Amino acid sequence: MSSRCGSMDRYFQLAVTLFHDFRWVYDFKATDILSTAVLQNIPQSFQTFFLSLRDNDEQFHEILNCRGEANILWPVELRSFVASCQEIQGLSEGLKDGYSNALPSHSTCNKNLNLDNLKLPKKWNLKKYLEVAYVGNFVGHLCSQEQCDAVVDIGSGLGYLTSHLASHFELAVVGVESDPSRVTAAETAYRSTLNSCSTGSQTYCCLQITENMSQEIEPCLRNYNKVCICALHACGDLTPWSLKHFIGTDSCKLLAVAPCCYHKMSMNSSSFPMSNSLISELGMYDDRSFLINQWLWRLASQRAGKNFLNDIRKETENLFYRAILEKFCRAESFGLFRKKRNFTKSNHGSTFDDYLQTMLGPSGGFDVMKDNIKIEGDSLSEVFYQISRLHDEVNNLQS
Ligand SMILES: C[S@@+](CC[C@H](N)C(=O)[O-])C[C@H]1O[C@@H](n2cnc3c(N)ncnc32)[C@H](O)[C@@H]1O
Repeated sequence: MSSRCGSMDRYFQLAVTLFHDFRWVYDFKATDILSTAVLQNIPQSFQTFFLSLRDNDEQFHEILNCRGEANILWPVELRSFVASCQEIQGLSEGLKDGYSNALPSHSTCNKNLNLDNLKLPKKWNLKKYLEVAYVGNFVGHLCSQEQCDAVVDIGSGLGYLTSHLASHFELAVVGVESDPSRVTAAETAYRSTLNSCSTGSQTYCCLQITENMSQEIEPCLRNYNKVCICALHACGDLTPWSLKHFIGTDSCKLLAVAPCCYHKMSMNSSSFPMSNSLISELGMYDDRSFLINQWLWRLASQRAGKNFLNDIRKETENLFYRAILEKFCRAESFGLFRKKRNFTKSNHGSTFDDYLQTMLGPSGGFDVMKDNIKIEGDSLSEVFYQISRLHDEVNNLQS
């Protein structure tokens, strides 16, 4: 136990020092990289080194994955960055290993996942199916081990996990969800499958959870002795609130949370940080937001380096095209307003012109405004023309 605490202290000590020494890596809005002096904050040694690399150089993989020895030819600051990341990663894996024996194995979680002749329900994709089935089996088996009789699925959305747990395990599962339309959709889906054999029961509760979560969900749990709290893709504060509930409630025996959207966590809330080690490490900074702020949360919400590498060209092009658009709009006092979330991910053109057409076209991702009036028709074509004259800038960035 004491070595685990020691590792935890070291983990946060290294992490806070890393945030302090390399704040330039994250402390900015990514789409402002050309509008503000972000790129100038990159130390000269990093700039020289990265500009010397060829496109998709193997060294990018080594740096982003932080695996293996730091290369002797890299600048000292980069070696120190990679070495710190490696130590942090090693500590986090060590902390995880200590618990893994008590957890259901991969084969247990993959049981009954038969992909042959799989017919996915409407609106499901394979990733979602596998995720729900795997996490559902994981939580269900933990509940069997701990003899839990009920599960509360926090932020249950369309009820996929609630329904998997109720269908495959002898559990009373309560889905708690703040969006009434999702609750209705989950209940409708449940009713349409009522005739199929289900080992447990499922109910849904439309509730906006707050930091008083324990009092709020208590009425749903009165009849149960041993309860598991689970959450898949728990947005922002749902994760710290679930942790607090788990710590403070005797009947809550298990907690299985997969967090997401860290950037939605409230700043300056009593929910973060919860770790005494981290509180003590941050204690030396009068202004905590100097190191821990929404830009760090956003970085934490990004895909891991090794996954990111597969799409690196597409992602960086997208980012630079958007950054050019932002720079232009700022210089010309245009407002750029996003109409749809994640539009860029699914609608990315291969050239800057394609990108502009897709993003600013009639059913595109952004509205361009001037003095609170939406730019349309010929005026928008003129804006298009002006932006597309920035080709030189685009070519420079790409080369
Ligand atoms: C990312 S979705 C995950 C849905 C589901 N667990 C899944 O994996 O498919 C997060 C869900 O949490 C719900 N949610 C967010 N904040 C909530 C709150 N404070 N109380 C209850 N539900 C909330 C959202 O409406 C949304 O349906």
